[in-house]
Amino acid sequence: MNELFSFRNPYFVAAVSVAVVYFIVSAVVGLIVLPYAQAQPNFTGLWDAICSAAGLPRPTPSGEAPPLPFKVSNAVLTSTTMAHPNQQSIGRGATLAQRCAICHGPTGISRADSPNLAGQYASVIYKELLDFRSGARTNAVMTPFAKNLSDQDIVDLAAYYAYLPRLPAYHPEMRIPLPRIVIYGAPLRGIAPCGACHGSLDNKAGAPWLEGQSAVYMRAQLEAFASSERHNDINEQMRNIARTMTPEEIDQAAKYYASQPPEIVKAMQ
Ligand code: HEC
Ligand code: HEC
Repeated sequence: MNELFSFRNPYFVAAVSVAVVYFIVSAVVGLIVLPYAQAQPNFTGLWDAICSAAGLPRPTPSGEAPPLPFKVSNAVLTSTTMAHPNQQSIGRGATLAQRCAICHGPTGISRADSPNLAGQYASVIYKELLDFRSGARTNAVMTPFAKNLSDQDIVDLAAYYAYLPRLPAYHPEMRIPLPRIVIYGAPLRGIAPCGACHGSLDNKAGAPWLEGQSAVYMRAQLEAFASSERHNDINEQMRNIARTMTPEEIDQAAKYYASQPPEIVKAMQ
């Protein structure tokens, strides 16, 4: 028995030799041959090829990350962003909001398909306005109204709209049963239930309140995230979700959220 793991045992020697040779061959193939076999390896040397194969981050030739072809959001949100608006800020916001009423409604509820702003989380309005102003989010109709806002204007408008009550929407939709994608998300595709971020279960900073929003608007946003035409979501949170949703799921989710009464009505039922 003791002889089994001994170099005097020819079978043991053979087995160890085979394992060692196998290890060396696979290291050479995996770390050197295969990396060089790629279409455009661009390695600066052997060690670079090995590091690349091992998955270590490599600097680009210029030493910097390649620039993105579009602007991304530079807004910084924390759970306390806009948490304590004061009355003065809300009052100033009300005056500023007069120029927004033509599209977003005098009570913050849109009569057309512009998003409702009444009762939206202040942090969302704040972030979206920063993004429209910086160009991280663009829309031919909305962008001109954000371009000239000062930082204080943005804070005040966010405080005002968040303070307004969530009223019933102007575009009543048939109540439809909860679609699977909204209740469960799609665990196999890495989609959490929508409410885990959007408020009904939990609210992740920056995720808008969706109930009562126009279905046309929400469908358009989901399609824009899926195509990356809208790309202001931090860490691609929403793009990653929308890309893996089917057109039917997008349609069902948009219709479902549009058909939901705003919270204030729910509380009275
Ligand atoms: C001429 C119409 C119009 C006016 C005026 C207007 N908006 Fe908008 N707004 C829109 C449209 C349309 C969108 C949706 C843009 C899109 O589809 O990406 C929008 C989007 C927004 C959003 C993003 C909401 C969300 O849920 O993502 C905010 C916040 C906003 N507007 C605030 C304002 C404020 C504040 C003003 C006034 C200073 C204003 N808007 C004036 C049409 C308008
Ligand atoms: C991991 C968190 C997360 C989950 C899960 C999630 N979302 Fe989002 N969603 C966000 C964030 C954050 C934004 C805001 C992006 C931004 O503009 O910064 C957003 C934006 C949106 C918007 C645009 C709303 C507006 O007014 O601008 C829609 C519509 C939307 N999500 C629908 C959905 C649906 C439907 C689901 C479920 C299938 C879902 N989301 C799941 C985080 C999430």
